[in-house]
Amino acid sequence: MSRIVVFGSINLDIIVPVPRLPVLGETVLGQDALISAGGKGANQAHAARLAGAAVSMVGKVGADGLAEPALALLTTAGVDLSHVGVSTHPTGCATIWNGPDGSSTIVVSTGANSDLRSDDVPDELLEPGVILLMQQEVSLEENARLIARARTHGVMTILNAAPAIVPARDVLECVDTLVVNEIELKMICKAFHLSGNDLPARLADALGTVVIATYGADGVLRTDGTDTLHIPARPVQVVDTTGAGDTFVGVYAASLARGLAADQALEHANAAAALCCTRRGAQTAQASLEEYSAGL
Ligand code: RIB
Repeated sequence: MSRIVVFGSINLDIIVPVPRLPVLGETVLGQDALISAGGKGANQAHAARLAGAAVSMVGKVGADGLAEPALALLTTAGVDLSHVGVSTHPTGCATIWNGPDGSSTIVVSTGANSDLRSDDVPDELLEPGVILLMQQEVSLEENARLIARARTHGVMTILNAAPAIVPARDVLECVDTLVVNEIELKMICKAFHLSGNDLPARLADALGTVVIATYGADGVLRTDGTDTLHIPARPVQVVDTTGAGDTFVGVYAASLARGLAADQALEHANAAAALCCTRRGAQTAQASLEEYSAGL
């Protein structure tokens, strides 16, 4: 089985259910906070591990009291943390408002994550067959450097363009798979002057990259510009969507690493992301392979 290497953010999340979002300058009273491990990179690593893959996390934390709880669930799950370094910045921290409809509104203090460098990934982790996952809570320039290195090593790359920042076009042309939600998709297409009804296929065609677009309740779509597969969302009682996109990416990669075909990997990722929405938190809400695959 191939190894998953995750290059990305590690945060501690403070998630507060709120009756509605405050307006500027207003204080709103929320319910009990959930303080738990998060960060898009760490969430993807945790999901991939629970889905049965061998996972190495490459990231940075601060020399502070947030680092240990931020890494706690990765440690328990058996993710390789030997490439997690310590920064002079504080551990990344996210404050998250969880609305009554399950939506999550997030502010991230990137802290130590901003110190992560492509060079923190040793060459020995970039073996052919490895699947490399990246997101955008770290330096985009370092992502670009790592994508270029990964190419020369024959490593498959999956970039999740979250949070919504438009990466350089030549960088996107070098990734094997780009995963976006609807907002990220529209933002990238606008930047590249692409329009029309079939944005994922147009983007895939323009970049020469496989594009996976997640549409929440409207399901998920994978296209290489020619062949497109759409899978409807699984109906669930949504409690908290925090980390559902990360769960999708981690499980998709782990499923490929386990040898599943892309369409099966998409089904597994879709099921795991749906289950994640039924529970509170990011890593705390992720299901094991046995649990999410029961209904497939
Ligand atoms: O995608 C969800 C994640 O975004 C949270 O865990 C939070 O840490 C932010 O990085």
